[in-house]
Amino acid sequence: MRLPPDSLAFQMLGAAAAVRGVHEGTALPQAIEDATNLLRLDRVRDAATRGAIQDLAYRTVRQFGATRALVTQLVTRPPGALVDSLLAVALALLLEGEEGDRSKVGRGGYSDFTVVDQAVSAAASEPKTAHARGLVNAVLRRFLRERKALMDAIAKDEEARWNLPTWWLEQLRAAYPDRWMALAESVNVRPPMTLRVNTKRLSVDEYLKELANAGMAGTAIGPQAVRLVRAFPVSQVPGFATGDVSVQDAGAQLAAPLCEVADGMRVLDACAAPGGKTGHLLELADIHVTAVESDAERAARIHENLARLDQRAEVIVGDASRPKDWWDGQQFDRILADVPCSASGIVRRHPDIRWLRRESDIAKLVNEQRRIVSQLWSLLKPGGILVYVTCSIFPTEGEEQALWFGAQLPDAIRLQAPGQLLPGTKAQETAGTNMAGQPSLPSDHDGFYYARFQKRA
Ligand SMILES: C[S@@+](CC[C@H](N)C(=O)[O-])C[C@H]1O[C@@H](n2cnc3c(N)ncnc32)[C@H](O)[C@@H]1O
Repeated sequence: MRLPPDSLAFQMLGAAAAVRGVHEGTALPQAIEDATNLLRLDRVRDAATRGAIQDLAYRTVRQFGATRALVTQLVTRPPGALVDSLLAVALALLLEGEEGDRSKVGRGGYSDFTVVDQAVSAAASEPKTAHARGLVNAVLRRFLRERKALMDAIAKDEEARWNLPTWWLEQLRAAYPDRWMALAESVNVRPPMTLRVNTKRLSVDEYLKELANAGMAGTAIGPQAVRLVRAFPVSQVPGFATGDVSVQDAGAQLAAPLCEVADGMRVLDACAAPGGKTGHLLELADIHVTAVESDAERAARIHENLARLDQRAEVIVGDASRPKDWWDGQQFDRILADVPCSASGIVRRHPDIRWLRRESDIAKLVNEQRRIVSQLWSLLKPGGILVYVTCSIFPTEGEEQALWFGAQLPDAIRLQAPGQLLPGTKAQETAGTNMAGQPSLPSDHDGFYYARFQKRA
């Protein structure tokens, strides 16, 4: 049976294929791409359907802990990976039904009946799942009948309660004994869409007027940061195509100003793709930027971003921890080390990260971060500044690293920096850091860690 692409059933099937990809270890954007290729969706022509599949997949992955626990409760014999994922998509929609009003579900406004009916149609339409259409029907109906008892049964399961892996919760509890619950809750909050205004071209106030003329509302939340009241596709955002604005979280917008660049400086952006911070650096002064990125495909995105902004940088595909492979021997005035990390501070934007990461990844990342910064240090001029950034909220990748760098890097003076920014809050000051004289902090941002070191002149 062929389903119309604008049907919920078709979109649930696409989302199920994407969710299965994440379950098998693929990052969600790639898993969605793979799923829509499988369904032979044309990128441009079928944009609305792709958007709907993406929305369902993100909603499901946010609730993966709960939906997986429910499937385990409801299904005695594993029905197959795609059926499992289809059940997860349907259950995620049903779980979004507001307490007291189960007739309407989530933003889509689908009734419970529609969700069940469309999930069964989705199962029936696909050879790999058709055998399980009866099971899908029975499982979802049982969930609706026994919802309270089932939710009580999974309530003791931490992964189901918080939609976070147990090891992740342990890290949060150890690091933030007083606020780990708020942090765990925050991962499922929908993040704002925040823009960075290129103030070389227009002021934030001028841009807010442009937005208003286009019928969009925004608020200034930083020197260049504008938070949109509602998210829009970038193609509809005024000034995006021409580089007047870029999409960048307000916490990420601190990185470039912390480099304190001035005209004529040589700046190394050491882990640069997709180039968000490269572009920002170039908007702040007339500088020469060398952008190093180890992943060639991702490096191509730096070129795309800079072309949109009408900016230039020297882009090198290389390993930041092996400068002898690519460095020309001329030292830099500034180094931005936006190192690879757990990404535990940006989970609300990338809900798949928590399921893809393993606890054992953290120690490997900590070592890689140390290797990169230690190797880059000799590339810095005396008097130069290195800014260390992670989008992590785990102290092992933040303050503990900064203390290690302070002790290990020769001639390093620790400068003021925001330290640990927790998602959605003001900066949390950490040992050895404070914000005197630093850029003011926006109020709604992802989680980041910032430290700065100057090389003794
Ligand atoms: C946090 S992201 C950088 C984000 C970027 N600075 C921005 O603002 O758009 C880290 C990047 O480092 C790259 N990377 C990981 N290991 C690296 C290495 N050893 N050398 C250079 N780049 C690396 C990753 O591929 C990834 O693109």
